[in-house]
Amino acid sequence: MLHKSQSTDQSPIYRPIRSFVRREGRMTRGQKIALQHLWPRYGIDMCKDYVDLDMVFGRQAPCILEIGLGMGDSLITMARNHPENDYLGIEVYRPGVGSLLNKLDECGIGNVRVINDEATMVLQQMIPENSISAVYIFFPDPWPKKRHHKRRLIQPLFIELLSGKLQPGGMLHMATDWEDYAHHMMAVMNYASMFTNTAGINHFSPRPDYRPLTKFEQRGMKLGHRVWDLVFRKTA
Ligand SMILES: C[S@@+](CC[C@H](N)C(=O)[O-])C[C@H]1O[C@@H](n2cnc3c(N)ncnc32)[C@H](O)[C@@H]1O
Repeated sequence: MLHKSQSTDQSPIYRPIRSFVRREGRMTRGQKIALQHLWPRYGIDMCKDYVDLDMVFGRQAPCILEIGLGMGDSLITMARNHPENDYLGIEVYRPGVGSLLNKLDECGIGNVRVINDEATMVLQQMIPENSISAVYIFFPDPWPKKRHHKRRLIQPLFIELLSGKLQPGGMLHMATDWEDYAHHMMAVMNYASMFTNTAGINHFSPRPDYRPLTKFEQRGMKLGHRVWDLVFRKTA
C-alpha cells in the first residue's frame, strides 16, 4: 500500500499504492445535486494543514474516523446511535459521498463530516497526531489475487501512520468477510507493537454492538459466510 520516501523537511512521506478502483461513471442526479448543495455543510476540502476537529464539529467530543465508508450506511447508523461522538468519514468514491450527504440531510444528522479523498494522503496532511478516539475500517477491498495483495489498504506502514493519529488508548477496529485478508490483517497487527489485541493474541473478536450489520453481511450470513472482526487498542 505504501512507499516510504523522504520529504524535503526530512519527515517521512508514505506514497500510497492505489487500494481502490475508480468508478466515477455511475453518479446519480441526486448524488450530483447533493455534492453541489450539501458539500459546504458536511464536506471538508482536501488541504495541506491539520484540521481543527473541535472547530469543525463545533464542540469537544470523541472523534471517530471511518475509512472507506462506501455508501455511508454504517456511518449514518453509528452517528445516529451515538450522538455523543463525532464521526469523520474518508472515502474516495464520489457517488458514495454524494449518497452519504443526501442521507445526512434527510436524517438531520449533525455529528458527521466527510473528506472525499485518498485516506493515506488525508491522514498525513489533515489529521492531527493523537486526535482520534477510534478508527473503523469495515470491509476494505479484499484484492483477492495474490499479485494484487500489495494493493490492500492494511499494511504495516499504514498501521504505523494510523497509530500516530490515535489517542493513547484509542481503538482500531477492522472487519472483513475475506478469510485470507483477515489473516493478513492479523499478521500485520501482530507485528504492530503499539497495539494490543483486545481479544487476546491471534484471536478475532465478536462483532461489537456499535458495528451495524450491513445488508450484504446479513445476506452472507444466511449463506453461512463468516465475518472476521479485529479490535485492537493503542497501548504504546
Ligand atoms: C468494499 S468497500 C466497503 C464499503 C463500506 N465500508 C461497507 O462496509 O460497505 C471499500 C471502500 O473503501 C474505499 N477505499 C478504498 N481504498 C481507499 C483509500 N485509500 N482511501 C479512501 N477510501 C478508500 C473504496 O472506494 C470503497 O468505497
